[in-house]
Amino acid sequence: MNAILIKDTTDFFKAKFGNVPDKIVLSPGRINIIGEHIDYNDGYVLPAAIDKIVCFAFEKNNSNTAKIHAIDLNESLKIDVTKEETISDIVWTNYLRGVLFQLKLKGYKIGGFNCVFSSNIPIGSGLSSSAALECGFLFGINKMFNLDIKPIDMALMGQSAEHWVGINCGIMDQFSSIMGLENKVIKIDCRTLDYTYHDADFANYSLILFDSNLQHSLFTSEYNNRRIECEEGLSIINENYPEINSFRDCNEELLIGLKSKMTDNVFRRSLYAVKEIKRVIQACTALDKGDIETLGKLMFETHQGLSKDYEVSCTELDYLVDLAKAEEDVIGSRLMGGGFGGCTINLVKKGSESKIKEKFTTLYAEHFKIDLITYDVKVSNGTSLYKN
Ligand code: GLA
Repeated sequence: MNAILIKDTTDFFKAKFGNVPDKIVLSPGRINIIGEHIDYNDGYVLPAAIDKIVCFAFEKNNSNTAKIHAIDLNESLKIDVTKEETISDIVWTNYLRGVLFQLKLKGYKIGGFNCVFSSNIPIGSGLSSSAALECGFLFGINKMFNLDIKPIDMALMGQSAEHWVGINCGIMDQFSSIMGLENKVIKIDCRTLDYTYHDADFANYSLILFDSNLQHSLFTSEYNNRRIECEEGLSIINENYPEINSFRDCNEELLIGLKSKMTDNVFRRSLYAVKEIKRVIQACTALDKGDIETLGKLMFETHQGLSKDYEVSCTELDYLVDLAKAEEDVIGSRLMGGGFGGCTINLVKKGSESKIKEKFTTLYAEHFKIDLITYDVKVSNGTSLYKN
């Protein structure tokens, strides 16, 4: 599938600019095994890059103008790279403008270039198409102009670009897009940005995504609200226990003792954060031991917390997880990514994948009159140059 995307993007570039592109960059979306809404809460996450990508073709054009074309939307953009960027009404352009803004902010000097891109990462499915866009664009510019930006700094700049667009996200998406490795999940300590790779070996189970096929319109405002609620929870903890500056150093008992000092929402958001931080550590140990059943149980617990305490689920996602719970051949399931739509991630017994996909698709359509979309997952490399 990616071979076709790469060929089409290259051909499009040749037809548009008359040259063979100088650089082809592939930038992946991501899944997350466990550790949701915890990257901005000082926790650990366990994501991986996948084989769904944005493909970019680039060349320098000896001017001050970036000429960019989004093949899938058939829309073009011209930017004077010497000028400061401002937010535009055309949403997709902001992720790229955000990257150029960050480059300028950090004092990097670049010239004009030609660029076309096309993607097979579904948008709004919680697979981080925007991080792939930011990271691939930055990676290409870094290579073309020899800026020598280190990978983790690229991830951080991608995150800042996303903040510039208006989502106060954590580091997980950009980090996984840049640092992904084939067949490895990455355990990221979001406090220190230390990371370790672990085998993406789920023994007798396959990872399957069920895409609820819903547009998550509440996403931006509610996402930013959750961050604010968690900051409030943490500041109340800190007022009462000045030595505690992180949910990581807190426990349930201590939090329950402070319940009366918090609003119910702030308490439940904080409780989720404290529990999720612990779950990721347990989940990673279980994965390393090949104890996929325990990993699955923890995924179900995460969903329960995301749905009831963190309140970022929706009827359709809860329905999909409930279906999974009732199915002997699905041993773990939860909403993945920011929530309010997008996918569930599921551990499905090998050999039962088709049966489960068919059953869930039929029931989901009967119940909601919406087509369920299913994806198999292949854990793949992070953003890289394509060499043919
Ligand atoms: C979005 C954000 C991430 C992370 C997830 C939820 O994908 O971009 O930083 O917070 O939601 O885990």
